[in-house]
Amino acid sequence: MFCLMLMLPFLLSTVPSFKLCPSHCLCYESSDLVDCRSRGLVWVPTSVPHSTWLLDLSGNKLTEVHSRSFMGLWSLKILLMSNNSIQTLQPQSLSSLQFLERLDLSFNRLRGLPQDFSQSLSSLQELRLDHNLLQHLDPTSLSDFENLKKLDLSYNRIRTMDVRGFSGLSRLSHLNLEGNRLNVLKDGLLVRQQRLEVLLLGHNNISAIEAGALAPLWSLTLLDLQGNQLQNIRFKTFLKLQTTATTSTTHLHLSSNPWICDCELQRVFAKIQRVRHLHVYDYKDIVCRAPAQHTGSSLASLDSRLCITETASVLVITITVMLAVIGALVKAEHNRKNKQSASDSESDRQEK
Ligand SMILES: *[C@@H]1O[C@H](CO)[C@@H](O)[C@H](O)[C@H]1NC(C)=O
Ligand SMILES: *[C@@H]1O[C@H](CO)[C@@H](O)[C@H](O)[C@H]1NC(C)=O
Repeated sequence: MFCLMLMLPFLLSTVPSFKLCPSHCLCYESSDLVDCRSRGLVWVPTSVPHSTWLLDLSGNKLTEVHSRSFMGLWSLKILLMSNNSIQTLQPQSLSSLQFLERLDLSFNRLRGLPQDFSQSLSSLQELRLDHNLLQHLDPTSLSDFENLKKLDLSYNRIRTMDVRGFSGLSRLSHLNLEGNRLNVLKDGLLVRQQRLEVLLLGHNNISAIEAGALAPLWSLTLLDLQGNQLQNIRFKTFLKLQTTATTSTTHLHLSSNPWICDCELQRVFAKIQRVRHLHVYDYKDIVCRAPAQHTGSSLASLDSRLCITETASVLVITITVMLAVIGALVKAEHNRKNKQSASDSESDRQEK
């Protein structure tokens, strides 16, 4: 009996080691990390300990996440499922994960998200959905991510975004939409993103930025628009980026676009450069696609020549117009004199 009592503390302290660990996985009990990386798993293993706060299922062969897959894992904070073949997340499949802070679903085959995707993930701070096959995001699927700070949607096939798509994400600081197929950056899409610091839109198909699209982004420090279809931009669009005192500069990346280098574009860039809180990071790499005589030249190398040509043509036109006017005046005067002398000789004849 005494002996048993002596052993009791020892038995108690070893209780955690009797917790179930899914076969094929490694469990590090003191910290409740469950490592099931690259084990050829086809299903989310059952018998993951309830106290687990990190579950790593990357590099397996999961194709679907069922509604009961994570039942009872209330302590889970980090769930890593990148590099599987997940095509479907069933509705409610993540609904027991109220305390999840990080979810990695990158490198899968998701074509869409369930409507209730964000509903029970209200603690989520970081979500990776990059390198999937997403085409359109339902406006409700992200709507309840009120604590989300980082959202990675890069390298999907997103062509259009509902303007309400991000309206619930008021704490977002990093948004990566690189490598999608967006055409237009719409007014209203980023209306709630006052805290957004990094906006990556490189390698899309963006040819237009609506006038007020960037206006709500008070905290922006980096805007990447490289590798799009921009031919020209308006100064006002960028001037509206009203950064607050804490974020003194917004860095703009604008190279690898098919710029049409005319005097107007040169003026816009010159004005942007003069605004203290805006900085075109890759100005020397802004290369002209058109007009033909400037194809391949950098805008910087053309210096103010574009506007000189314009000034010259304005001068030529002015001179031409002036010459025409003078010509017309001279001709009118000449005609008047002719008429005068004709009528003079007529009256002479009548007098005779
Ligand atoms: C995905 O997993 C496979 C097999 O586990 C591995 O060979 C590959 O490097 C992984 N790819 C990425 C992008 O993690
Ligand atoms: C890119 O946008 C243009 C219109 O601006 C459209 O004609 C073209 O099909 C788009 N390309 C892709 C790959 O979406």
